[in-house]
Amino acid sequence: MKAAVTVHRDFVIAPIDHRLYSSFLEHLGRAVYSGIYEPGHPTADEQGFRRDVMELVKGIDTPYVRYPGGNFVSAYNWEDGVGPREERPVRLDLAWRTRESNQLGTNEFIDWCRKVGTEPMLAVNLGSRGLDAARNFLEYCNHPGGSYWSDLRKKHGWAEPHNVKLWCLGNEMDGPWQVGHMTARQYGKIANETAKAMRAFDPSLELVVCGSSNPDMPTYPQWEADVLDECYDAADHISLHMYFTNYEHNTAEYLAIPERVDRYIVTIGGVIDYIKAKKRSKKQLTISFDEWNVWYHTRLQDKETMAAQDWPEAPPVLEDIYDFEDVLQVGCILNTFIRRSDRVKIACIAQLVNVIAPIMTERGGRAWRQTIYYPLQNASLHGRGKALRLAVDVGTYDASIADDVPYLDVAGVENAEGGVTLFAVNRHQTEALDLSVALEGYAGLRLAEHVLIKHDDLRAKNTADNPDNVVPKAHSGTGVEDGRLAATLPPLSYSMIRLS
Ligand code: AHR
Repeated sequence: MKAAVTVHRDFVIAPIDHRLYSSFLEHLGRAVYSGIYEPGHPTADEQGFRRDVMELVKGIDTPYVRYPGGNFVSAYNWEDGVGPREERPVRLDLAWRTRESNQLGTNEFIDWCRKVGTEPMLAVNLGSRGLDAARNFLEYCNHPGGSYWSDLRKKHGWAEPHNVKLWCLGNEMDGPWQVGHMTARQYGKIANETAKAMRAFDPSLELVVCGSSNPDMPTYPQWEADVLDECYDAADHISLHMYFTNYEHNTAEYLAIPERVDRYIVTIGGVIDYIKAKKRSKKQLTISFDEWNVWYHTRLQDKETMAAQDWPEAPPVLEDIYDFEDVLQVGCILNTFIRRSDRVKIACIAQLVNVIAPIMTERGGRAWRQTIYYPLQNASLHGRGKALRLAVDVGTYDASIADDVPYLDVAGVENAEGGVTLFAVNRHQTEALDLSVALEGYAGLRLAEHVLIKHDDLRAKNTADNPDNVVPKAHSGTGVEDGRLAATLPPLSYSMIRLS
């Protein structure tokens, strides 16, 4: 099958916010304990952070990490996680039915962020708590000193303020499962007052308010309209969450999901514009897609496990082992964010380590990259710059969630040096795509590399014993001649083609 793409230097969608490649770490399962933190592990540093995991995190250059939840945050007392470790209380975590030792808290997490070269994106608890705890937490984190909370941080051993700039006001408050779940109007008012208080401390903060937990929520998209009606002027971003499943192992349907993600973004973009117009506001809110990933491999089993478990500490839950098919999905979703980079300024893969994550560890043992690590790494390292508006001519198929799904899913980025990177997924199950790309306004660009991720078995996985089963490999036969790139994309494959 033929696929014709035109790239034109002047056809730019938007600058890509580097925060599109952020991630998320929740106090859930083994994300923290035996994930990033495991004193006594052979690679642990002086603070108990696993160096092997830090190296893998550095490998994806994730700009922000959202913390500490997720559902966990909605019953979390931030004070439990600061101060002398031996005095920190053990608490029952209502979200995941586990025991939280609080041996890692905000200060240690921020130290870890600095070590791996990322920035913290902190969430405040608007479920079981509210404005008062949020403003105290902010003062504790960000005030230099001379006040009760900032002096307490100093007493705890962190003399310098953390200067956390990006804050989430609660988590999934539209979800009946959430501790402290509210109606949109209730949440919007509380978010507005919390945002006002936080801005009174520092007007330059960036604040994310809760949008929908997924586009199947009965309150979607009225939720966003009502929330923003209450707090448009106080917020900067509205969050969207969505997880992708393929219980039926129906590849065509599965790979059509990015079309739905696209519609989700476009719809909420429209709601933002509606409220903006209603308020006669000059301010442009954007989207923080701060939870997204494939999540189904262990989901049903975990539901049963968690319902029956007796408050264990850091149990192995939500440990999805990803396969080659998930590489294609994650590649298409990242492409969707690049194509919608005018609307989406932050996106966090959920999550980072062990819990529905690109990085896995054994307690006391090895750490390795899951299959989905690679499309994320490619996008994060090479998907920064300007998103290009591509003209794409290729065959399509109809799926139950969307018609006219193009067999080629492609996004283009111009980097700061004037090079172009194309990220392409061939969704066709049997046919290769003969790709021809007209490079207009890019005279002189040459092929730097074409890396391909392809496996004959859609269910192929990376494991501790076989960590390199699904990895990117150099792909031959691609070339540029007379301003035209030609490549062959095998059926069901992921490609990154870099031109410099
Ligand atoms: O990432 C796992 C969970 O999914 C988060 O805690 C919650 O916000 C979402 O429902």
